[in-house]
Amino acid sequence: MGIYLVFIIGAVIVSRSQGHAVDYLKFPDDLLLGAASSSYQVEGAWNEDGKGENIWDRMTHANPEKIDDRSTGDIACDAYHKTKEDIALMKDLGLQFYRFSISWSRILPTGFPNKINQAGIDYYNDLINQLLANNIIPMVTVYHWDLPQPLQDLGGFANPEIINWLKDYAKVVFDHFGDRVKTWITINEPKQICEFGYGTGMFAPGLQAGGIGNYLCTHNLLKAHAHIYHMYDKIYRRNQKGHIGITAECSWSEPATNATQDIEAAERRRQFDFGMYMNPIFHKNGDYPAVVKQFVAKRSKEEGFPRSRLPEFTQQEINFIKGTSDFFGLNHYTTVLVKDKKADPIGDPSQDKDTRVETFQDPNWLTGSFSYFRSVPWGLRKALNYIKHNYGNPEILITENGFPDAESFNDQGRIRYYKDNLKAVLDAIYTDHVRITVYTAWSLMDNFEWSSGYTVRFGLYHVDFNDTNRPRTPKESVKFYKNLIKTRRLNTEDPKLP
Ligand SMILES: *[C@@H]1O[C@H](CO)[C@@H](O)[C@H](O)[C@H]1NC(C)=O
Ligand SMILES: *[C@@H]1O[C@H](CO)[C@@H](O)[C@H](O)[C@H]1NC(C)=O
Repeated sequence: MGIYLVFIIGAVIVSRSQGHAVDYLKFPDDLLLGAASSSYQVEGAWNEDGKGENIWDRMTHANPEKIDDRSTGDIACDAYHKTKEDIALMKDLGLQFYRFSISWSRILPTGFPNKINQAGIDYYNDLINQLLANNIIPMVTVYHWDLPQPLQDLGGFANPEIINWLKDYAKVVFDHFGDRVKTWITINEPKQICEFGYGTGMFAPGLQAGGIGNYLCTHNLLKAHAHIYHMYDKIYRRNQKGHIGITAECSWSEPATNATQDIEAAERRRQFDFGMYMNPIFHKNGDYPAVVKQFVAKRSKEEGFPRSRLPEFTQQEINFIKGTSDFFGLNHYTTVLVKDKKADPIGDPSQDKDTRVETFQDPNWLTGSFSYFRSVPWGLRKALNYIKHNYGNPEILITENGFPDAESFNDQGRIRYYKDNLKAVLDAIYTDHVRITVYTAWSLMDNFEWSSGYTVRFGLYHVDFNDTNRPRTPKESVKFYKNLIKTRRLNTEDPKLP
């Protein structure tokens, strides 16, 4: 009762101080609404104007069977040639910001800063300048999966030299664009880079070095990120006055039952899924999560390895990595139910076997063209709250959120997804007091969806990949998002006000 009373008084003070009742469907003034893309997925022009070869160029050319429709990003959306046209679309949508990434091999064709490709610099200068001229904030990802092939030939993220290579590249990026770019994401989705690129081999570079390669990649990637952060902090921040962080994909893991082993399994999956990458940066103690260290060490021993396949950080490294992000970049798509699983028989090691869980979705959850993908807005809200409580209430930038479907212009499923998930964001802001300052729709337009090629579409704008001009056409979701940004209010028939 006492607590209840305090809450009521607090609520009255809040609404009085704002002079009116809080509108729980209105987006706070300081929440930025935008959309995102990444270089390999949209640019095309894979070998034009001096660009070097990257790992996705190599994999799609050498191993077309790795892509569902055997397609490539050679042309993709041809965004390299359509800056003006695409900015007109963003302007029409009313985007406050556009999140895009820089193609490392477009500006450094060899991967090294010995040779800077001026045409690449010009392309991004033009993009940034045109965005700013249209009052659209550029939000830039330094590394979104397209490693220069010459660096992969030397081991890529499995080689600790990646720390220097990424840092040297980031320096070129800050030197050339940091005067105008104020929000930097060092690396997009470490798990997908390491587990899918160096573990299962589903993504470029396609190494199937599971249980070993993926953890080497993780270890080097985290150090590289921390070095870039410290470099920005020491050398650039004072003059450029930006902020810099990292983005992880955090799906939500919900226990399938209330049995203790399933509750523990769900937590374990969260720790392997995103804790392994974010705990060293955001947790007050730093380092890998204890449960990850424990499970990999135990399994490694059973498999006959002399030490854990998960490398250890020194205390100095733990301190160096801890706190190296001005915000928590969150990509969120969906939720899974988790059950504990018996240990697999000893065989090739993998992160999956280390995690020891079984995952599935509830068939009653809303889905669209793909039954493996379901909309679970309460999962997003739980993920936001988990981050708030476990990582010291950081500022959260939702850097990706979106819904896949097959070809469709009347994309009602996507609209429903955005409505429901944005309501979860508003509830997290107003009811749970999670600090969210950015919401990013993935994606501005249909694009090359990695191993799914062009079979899966995430765009607000439709792109016809059979037409050499790659025409963009607004889907119904463009009307929805445009109106949302214009009114800054979620228009739901059933608002379920708290
Ligand atoms: C677990 O227990 C809670 C509280 O009794 C209940 O609300 C919830 O539905 C249960 N979850 C499952 C998956 O059974
Ligand atoms: C190209 O057109 C064919 C035939 O209409 C269609 O099946 C295919 O999905 C299209 N491909 C893409 C990438 O749009």
